[in-house]
Amino acid sequence: MNPLDRYADLVDDEAAFRAACDRPLPQVVRVNTLAAEADRVAAAFDEADVEYERVAWHDGLFRMPGGSPGTTWPYFHGWVHGQEEVSALPALALDPAPGETVWDACAAPGSKTSHVAARMDDRGTLVANDSNLGRLSALRHNAERLGLTNLVVTNRDARNYSLRGFEFDAFDRVLVDAPCSCEGTIRKNPDAHETWSLDHVNEISGVQRGVLRRAVQAMPILFHVVPSDVVNTFALPLTRWPSATWSAPSIARSGVAAETVVSRIPASRARSRVW
Ligand SMILES: C[S@@+](CC[C@H](N)C(=O)[O-])C[C@H]1O[C@@H](n2cnc3c(N)ncnc32)[C@H](O)[C@@H]1O
Repeated sequence: MNPLDRYADLVDDEAAFRAACDRPLPQVVRVNTLAAEADRVAAAFDEADVEYERVAWHDGLFRMPGGSPGTTWPYFHGWVHGQEEVSALPALALDPAPGETVWDACAAPGSKTSHVAARMDDRGTLVANDSNLGRLSALRHNAERLGLTNLVVTNRDARNYSLRGFEFDAFDRVLVDAPCSCEGTIRKNPDAHETWSLDHVNEISGVQRGVLRRAVQAMPILFHVVPSDVVNTFALPLTRWPSATWSAPSIARSGVAAETVVSRIPASRARSRVW
């Protein structure tokens, strides 16, 4: 079975969807605003004759048609981080503020963690967790290169994450970039569908549900759930979910979003906030 067949009923234009899945993903870097401003990065690329295109919807994203952004010196100095364009959305939706306590439940190798840290202006406490120790080495390397200092790194299963040892007993915001079926990574990994199986999808959706449940428990009472990255990460019922403000029990009963932003909403804003 081709995993993409399952999307036929979910997408409006199947031919366009399949054509998009066949298009290679452009190489993109995100400016690390803790270290440099976007115009300074552009000037550095100009000086080094590195080809780039500014992304229209986001001042801090550059497409790199020549590839290999990791070989440029702005990368080496931590001014930019290689990150898919769509992967820059979750931190914007999460909208963390400097000084808050934020949990990135499935964080490695840290692309979104580092974006969240920059949005927090490196202030407050950002807890980056992942159950895979090897992938955490990459996160720590990225965090050091990008100069993050508000970061706590933990290596636990997010499904039964304990807040013991922290000075707070709830997070202000939680990012759940859960492990997924990887169907949507076909644009960067042409072999992604070779190891695909429905058994794995069912298994991984159980993990997603467990992490999301724990995320909700680790937050105060009102939540806003934003299924994000839907173009990139296809998961079971995710694509047709409207975003909504939900109560904890309704989230626990529901299906699972592959990549989900959960943030606390002050009661005064709860009705008006729509993504
Ligand atoms: C989609 S990747 C995260 C990518 C990362 N957020 C980024 O932007 O660089 C999902 C991650 O979930 C981790 N993971 C899988 N099961 C987990 C669990 N039960 N608890 C915590 N992390 C888990 C995997 O090791 C993997 O690193």
